[in-house]
Amino acid sequence: MNPTDEQSTDRYPTSLRMLHWLRAALVAGLLWAGWHMTGMPDEVASKFELYYPWHKSFGVLTFLVVLVQIALRLHSPRLPQPPGTLAKHERFVSRLAQRVMYALLVIVPLMGYSMSSTYTMSDGVFFFGINLPELLAKNDDWFVVFQWLHKVLAYTLLGLILLHIAGALKHRFYDKDPRSDVLRRML
Ligand code: HEM
Ligand code: HEM
Repeated sequence: MNPTDEQSTDRYPTSLRMLHWLRAALVAGLLWAGWHMTGMPDEVASKFELYYPWHKSFGVLTFLVVLVQIALRLHSPRLPQPPGTLAKHERFVSRLAQRVMYALLVIVPLMGYSMSSTYTMSDGVFFFGINLPELLAKNDDWFVVFQWLHKVLAYTLLGLILLHIAGALKHRFYDKDPRSDVLRRML
């Protein structure tokens, strides 16, 4: 479909807007907590009693939120298209960044889950008071692979989020044409 100026004034459906901001808060918290907890000394009790289990709980919750969001998105008949006022390369980069973010929002929690499951010393995948089945066989070699993937992909996601935020702010505050302001479609 060709982008038109009329479509650029559309907003995302309320459900997708609410889920976008809920997920943004969850992911920001998880990135901060993941970075913070892995830097804590092992002797600090809250590291394994508080941060690790709650990081896992909110990580699995985020995964579920993202699945709901993808399902809703696939079933939304009419979503706003990138405004025609944006340069071709801006439309391409923002679309690509959004698709890769969606992919990482599924893969990163799956890698976290796989890491927790395969680790021989793990005490289960805590999910708000229940222990989820671990599904994968214990294997510390695979644990190292999943741990590496979880880390590298989580920080790749962070890089894309920063690019995504910079793009949204540029279109709102720097671009001269108000039709380029994609942020209001998400507010
Ligand atoms: C979107 C969801 C998630 C994000 C953005 C995220 C992000 C992160 C980040 C940034 C780290 C720190 C990596 C490092 O610096 O070494 C981390 C560590 C960790 N994450 Fe996640 N995570 C998510 C979901 C999950 C899930 C679902 C689980 C498990 C069920 C999980 C389990 C862990 C564990 C166990 C660590 C510590 C790894 C270690 O000790 O080296 N994460 N996460
Ligand atoms: C963890 C943080 C965030 C993540 C993972 C994220 C991810 C995404 C994704 C995947 C989309 C595509 C939505 C769709 O088409 O279904 C999107 C749209 C959007 N996001 Fe974010 N976002 C985050 C934070 C933010 C922030 C802080 C802002 C504002 C400064 C923002 C502004 C927007 C806007 C304006 C759109 C609509 C873009 C358009 O219509 O072309 N996002 N976001």
